[in-house]
Amino acid sequence: MESEPDRDALWALLNWQVELGATEAILDAPVSRFREEAVEPAPAAPEHLQTAEVPPMAAPVTDHVAEAKTAARGAEDLDALKQAMADYPHCELRLGARNLVFSDGNPAARIMILGEAPGRDEDLQGKPFVGRAGQLLDRMLGAIDLSRTASEPDASVYIANILPWRPPQNRDPKPDEIAMLMPFVERHVELAAPDFLVLMGNISCQACLGRKGITRLRGTWTEAVGRPALPMFHPAYLLRTPGAKREAWADLLELKARLMRQ
Ligand code: URA
Repeated sequence: MESEPDRDALWALLNWQVELGATEAILDAPVSRFREEAVEPAPAAPEHLQTAEVPPMAAPVTDHVAEAKTAARGAEDLDALKQAMADYPHCELRLGARNLVFSDGNPAARIMILGEAPGRDEDLQGKPFVGRAGQLLDRMLGAIDLSRTASEPDASVYIANILPWRPPQNRDPKPDEIAMLMPFVERHVELAAPDFLVLMGNISCQACLGRKGITRLRGTWTEAVGRPALPMFHPAYLLRTPGAKREAWADLLELKARLMRQ
């Protein structure tokens, strides 16, 4: 006869996994999302034709960037751009993500916010900034009478990320990932044509300005993708560092003042 599972032991095991950082339980057995889309290996050449040395070289990243530029430039509107990103095969992050997170808010807004990359909640819902950081962002915007749901360009925001796919374990994006996705970001900004950009956090500054150091960059207008751009602390950083909210508030007021001036 099968013995009853020990409920206390199972409970302790579950707690242990949560303490180790497990955030979701999906299936009993692990699934490799990489394997699902893995390309079938080519059949081996007959032995007499096999060469000993040099394995086939992967296409250089510059080719991937060039391909991204061509795909992005060919997109005539936002829907076409989203499709071009979905069809772009070279960024491996897509294999581990559930959804492509393209944008949220009003594409006609005068302000476009560029965040870093989707986290778990964004990956699940397919929308940027919907987790805790996103809720804080909504409250910050609300404090200066802006929202992603407003229909007037003066009262709304449009939101996207540098990366449309969630990196595993929310790790930082790698330089080659940023390089191959930037042509899509640039086209996204061109098509949405906002008056102002907000660069949320270090990764966004690194990608759009080629500079890091948000503590120094924040609050000073600069130019990115051909538009006036204001670097700000990322709301996820503000959740961890509530003392920095004072500077974030000053930056929000500056953003609102510029919006009203111009
Ligand atoms: N952080 C980001 O930078 N973007 C999101 O969409 C969510 C969290």
